[in-house]
Amino acid sequence: MTRYETLLKTLPLSPKQWLITGVAGFIGSNLLETLLKLDQRVIGLDNFATGHQHNLDEVKREVTAQQWERFRFVEGDIRDLKSCEQACSGVDYVLHQAALGSVPRSLNDPITTNATNIDGFLNMLVAARDAKVESFTYAASSSTYGDHPGLPKIEDVIGKPLSPYAVTKYVNELYADVFARCYGFNSIGLRYFNVFGKRQDPAGAYAAVIPKWTSSMIRNDDVFINGDGKTSRDFCFIENTVQANLLAATTANKDALNQVYNVAVSGRTDLNMLFTVLQSELKKNDVNYSKNAIYRDFREGDVRHSQADISKITGLLGYQPEFDIERGVAHAMPWYISFLK
Ligand SMILES: NC(=O)c1ccc[n+]([C@@H]2O[C@H](COP(=O)([O-])OP(=O)(O)OC[C@H]3O[C@@H](n4cnc5c(N)ncnc54)[C@H](O)[C@@H]3O)[C@@H](O)[C@H]2O)c1
Repeated sequence: MTRYETLLKTLPLSPKQWLITGVAGFIGSNLLETLLKLDQRVIGLDNFATGHQHNLDEVKREVTAQQWERFRFVEGDIRDLKSCEQACSGVDYVLHQAALGSVPRSLNDPITTNATNIDGFLNMLVAARDAKVESFTYAASSSTYGDHPGLPKIEDVIGKPLSPYAVTKYVNELYADVFARCYGFNSIGLRYFNVFGKRQDPAGAYAAVIPKWTSSMIRNDDVFINGDGKTSRDFCFIENTVQANLLAATTANKDALNQVYNVAVSGRTDLNMLFTVLQSELKKNDVNYSKNAIYRDFREGDVRHSQADISKITGLLGYQPEFDIERGVAHAMPWYISFLK
């Protein structure tokens, strides 16, 4: 039995109080759904900057009334220390997801990205430290690898950041490290690599590639590929990301603390391949997209290739991703079709 399978059996026997920041967002709402289904008590903090009430409503429909009663939502902003303090009170495990994602958004508005991702992160560290929480797990990012060309990406070998967003996520790691040294406050950073799955927002200028293309294909709109299509990513299905968070939050391995980990599958899919994967999965769901992709300029701030080495998280946290890109897309597609049609 894997550590995750054991955890899924044991967690409901001794429910904990969790805090998920960014709970109305894509990753946060999926964490919420899993934890409520495991009979955990959850506080959720969000200011709806990019998250949606309909994500919470959908989780409510997915769980029992009794499980939903174990959830308390706090509308608040992580840039406000008081909101963070209130949310952390009585909490065992923090899963800090709230941030402004997207490289292009950070290029257009570095100040708001900085305030949310750095000031907000620091507020959460201080509030969680003062509340003496048992564990603090936070969303880091593969963007921290920046301009380092090495593949696969190994946690200790990073380059220079290529965007304001990447700076903020790297600063999170630096602050977490300093809080361990200066205050003995333990945390774990999870460097997510292109997460995808249900409830990832397909709308707006800053949508991620999988929901954006899927929605274009369903609506028979044009699909644009930035660059030559050979840019590659290690796409990680949401269930793998949820697994990593639960393993990190509950680890009893002291060597695993105050570390950052790649969260991915160690796969490599270029944009041309991704186009084909989405097109063929849609076809299996009776949606035929017959247009060719339109190539345009490379996008500023993007790294060229990204593929994770996952031996660190496998070894120290017992992570074993269950979904590769094809299996993940197959799971996500029915949700996109019903959400977008
Ligand atoms: N999705 C990915 O591929 C990916 C990759 C690397 C890192 N990450 C990180 O994972 C985390 C979650 O990302 P996501 O994809 O779910 O994005 P998302 O935009 O769907 O969710 C982020 C949530 O944080 C909330 N939020 C933003 N600013 C806030 C504030 N000031 N106070 C309170 N709440 C606030 C938003 O309203 C939203 O609900 C982020 O930290 C992001 O940087 C995501």
